[in-house]
Amino acid sequence: MSDRIHTLSGYIHEYQRSVHQPEQFWSRIADSFHWKKRWEKIVEWNFEEPKIEWFKGAKLNITENILEKHLFTMGDKPAIIWEPNEPGDENQTITFRQLYEKVNQFANAMKAKGIKKGDRVIIYMPMVPEAAIAMLACARIGAVHSVVFAGFSSNALADRINDCQAKMVLTSDGNFRGAKSIPVKAVVDEALVKTKTIENVIVFKRTGEGVEMKAGRDIWWEDAIKGQSTECSAEVMDAEDMLFILYTSGSTGKPKGVVHTCGGYMVYTKYSFENVFQYDQGDVYWCTADVGWITGHSYIVYGPLLAGATTVMFEGVPTYPDAGRFWDVVDKYKVNQFYTAPTAIRALQAYGTEPVDKRDLSSLKVLGTVGEPINEEAWHWYHSHVGKGKCPVVDTWWQTETGGIMISPLAGITPTKPSYATLPLPGIQPVIVDADGNELKGNSVEGNLCMKFPWPGMLRTTYGDHERCKNTYFATYKNMYFTGDGVKRDEDGYYRILGRVDDVINVSGHRMGTAEVENAINEHPKVIESAVVGYPHEVKGQGIYAYVICDLENRTEENLINEISETVRNIIGAIAKPDKIQVVSGLPKTRSGKIMRRILRKIAEGDTSNLGDTSTLLNPEIVDEIKAGAK
Ligand code: PRX
Repeated sequence: MSDRIHTLSGYIHEYQRSVHQPEQFWSRIADSFHWKKRWEKIVEWNFEEPKIEWFKGAKLNITENILEKHLFTMGDKPAIIWEPNEPGDENQTITFRQLYEKVNQFANAMKAKGIKKGDRVIIYMPMVPEAAIAMLACARIGAVHSVVFAGFSSNALADRINDCQAKMVLTSDGNFRGAKSIPVKAVVDEALVKTKTIENVIVFKRTGEGVEMKAGRDIWWEDAIKGQSTECSAEVMDAEDMLFILYTSGSTGKPKGVVHTCGGYMVYTKYSFENVFQYDQGDVYWCTADVGWITGHSYIVYGPLLAGATTVMFEGVPTYPDAGRFWDVVDKYKVNQFYTAPTAIRALQAYGTEPVDKRDLSSLKVLGTVGEPINEEAWHWYHSHVGKGKCPVVDTWWQTETGGIMISPLAGITPTKPSYATLPLPGIQPVIVDADGNELKGNSVEGNLCMKFPWPGMLRTTYGDHERCKNTYFATYKNMYFTGDGVKRDEDGYYRILGRVDDVINVSGHRMGTAEVENAINEHPKVIESAVVGYPHEVKGQGIYAYVICDLENRTEENLINEISETVRNIIGAIAKPDKIQVVSGLPKTRSGKIMRRILRKIAEGDTSNLGDTSTLLNPEIVDEIKAGAK
C-alpha cells in the first residue's frame, strides 16, 4: 500500500487523522516496512525528561528495508548515480543489487576489523558512493555512524571523535572539489594525534596522492574488502537503538551530537521523502547537499533509498567548471526532482540566466530548497528560470534534530507562496508561542516555533549529555520541543520561517554557533576578547561579523585579521571564517558585564539609526567608536 498523498483534500484528511489518531496514523504508515518483530506500542513519550520512544519493542534493520526490500523487485534499477567532480571523468551507476553486495561486503570488512553493534564509526569522506555505502554498512551491523563534513578541520574532527569515543575512521586519501584537490587523510592523521580511541582507519583511494599509512592502524579500502563475502546478515536492532550521531552547532561553544534511532527515523524519512517530492518509480532525484549534513543523511541516502528511488550523488561544486554545472547534470541524467539550498540559487543567480537557458531542463518536475529562508527574488528566479514556471517549489523547513522535513508544501498539491514553507506534514503539530510560552492561537500571529507532539524522526538525546538535550530543546517551554526559530503564521494559516532567535547563525545554510566562532577566535594569542554576530549577506544569507579586542603589538591590523581568520579555519574549518573582522578597543557591556549583542548586530547590519538606549551601558562611549570603524 502506498502512503502517497495525491490531492489537497487528501492532505487535509491525512493531517486531521494524524492529529486526532496519531497511533493509528503512524501504525498504518509503519505497516509498509519490514519489521523483524512488530511493535508493542506506537509511541510513548514525555517532553519533561525528555523520553521519546516510537515503535516500542519492535525489531528491525533499516538496511533490509533498502536492500532486501528492493533486491528482487528492482535489483537492476539504479540506486545511486554518481557524478564526479570533473565533468569528463567516468561516472558510476550502482544498482540496488550492486548496492546490496557492496554494503554487505564493506560491512564484513568492518566486522573483520572488530567493529560490532553499538561501536561508533566516524565517516570523514568526500561525496563518493562509498560514503553512502559506509553509512549503510554501519547500519547493517548495528554500528553507529557519525559523518563529519570533510571540510571540518583536524581539531573539529578530533573533538567529535573524542566526544563519541569512536573506534574507527573511514576516510579517503584526498578530495576533489572544483579546481582544488584537498588532502583528507592528512587531516585525519593530525586529528588522531589528539585522540586515543581509534583502532583502525580505512582509506578510500580517490585522488591518488601520496599519503602516509600507519602500519597496523591504516588500511586501504580495496584491501579491506578483498575476499569479503557479499552476504552479511543484518543485525537485529531495537527500534530505539541508535542509528547515527550527527554533530551540529548550538548556542554554546561545543557542537552537540544529535542522536537518531533506527525505527522512527526510517519511517519518517521515507514517508516525508515520498510525499514532499512526490517521487514516482522511474524518476531520477537529485539532492545537491553533502552527506556530512542532515540533508545528505535523510534525503540523499536514507529517505530516497528506502523509497526505492534513484538518487544522484554529486562530488563537485555548482560553479565548476562553470556556472552551468548543475544544469548540465540535470540534463545528463534527466533529473526529475532537484533539491538544493537558497545560497546555491543566489550564487547562480549572479551569473544571469544564460547558463540556465542554454541547457535542456525539461525533465524537471519538482524543485526544492532547504537550509535557510529563501528570499522572494531567489524563489522567483528558481521558479521561473530553472522550473520554467511549471515546477512547484517546495520550501522545506526542518533541522538536524527533526530528522526529516517538518513544514513544507507537498509538490504540486499544496498551493505555494514565495518564501513560505506553507503547512506542516501529517503528524507534525507546530505551535507558536510568545516569550512567556503562551500559545498564540489562530492566524496572523508571530512568535517562536515549537512542537507540541512528538514525531517518529525527532532526536532522542544529545550523545553523552542528556541534560543538554533537555535544556536546549525541552526546558525553554513546558511540554514543548523548541526549535530555536522565529515564525509567522499568516492569514491563510501558512508558515513563514523568520530565522533563528538564538545565538545561532545560518551561513550558506550551515549552522554556526556564535560562541563556537568566538572560542576559535579567542585561541589566537593576541586576542583578548571577541563577539560574533550574523549580518545579512547577499549570497550566504547570513555572514559572520566578528568584533575583536586585541593586542596589536608588533603587528599591523591587516596581518592580525588574516591570522585570526586562519585560526578559525584551523580550529573549525573554512566554513566558519568570519566575513568581516573589526578590531575594536572595547565591546558594549551592561553593568553586569554582559555584551550587548543587539547593538553589535545593528551595527553589523549597517542600521545605526536606532540603537536604542545606550546610556545604561558600562561604556557607552564605545558605541561611537565601533560605529565609526564598521566594515
Ligand atoms: O533556522 C532554520 C534553518 O536551518 C536551521 C536548521 O539547520 P540544520 O540543523 O543545519 O539543518 C539544515 C537542513 C535541514 C533551522 O533551525 N532552516 C532550515 N530549513 C529552512 C530554514 N529556514 C527557513 N526556511 C527553511 N526552509
